[in-house]
Amino acid sequence: MQGNYSKLIAAARKARLRAYAPYSQFRVGAAVLTKTGEIISGCNIEISSLSLTICAERTALFKAISENRRSFKAIAIATDQLDPVSPCGACRQVMYELAGDIDIILCPIRGKEKILKLRSLLPLPFHKTKFV
Ligand code: THU
Repeated sequence: MQGNYSKLIAAARKARLRAYAPYSQFRVGAAVLTKTGEIISGCNIEISSLSLTICAERTALFKAISENRRSFKAIAIATDQLDPVSPCGACRQVMYELAGDIDIILCPIRGKEKILKLRSLLPLPFHKTKFV
């Protein structure tokens, strides 16, 4: 696994170093892999009113979407923590809507990455029902 995604993991770890997290000091980097093999990364960005903060996963995906990328294979999420950190609920919904059931690679500061499918983290995603 690590072999397949080693460039993606390195990109997420590098993006983590660009985190703007003066309030929490909790740095997160994310990198999305498109089906054509491109990598787009992002970091968390905190704003003093806190609720305007954006997570690394959403930064990376919004950057990719706004650059007209539409199909994705995986996202790597890197932190400074010893244990793998899994994405927040809001990011799970965003990832599901924009990228579907992609591979999620959780990357702690050192040691083994953990890989899972998004749907295992979001078993009952919100779907808009059609009005009749
Ligand atoms: N954070 C992320 O970037 N991704 C997540 O999935 C969870 C939390 C950020 C938001 C905030 O800047 C910091 O981590 C502490 O919550």
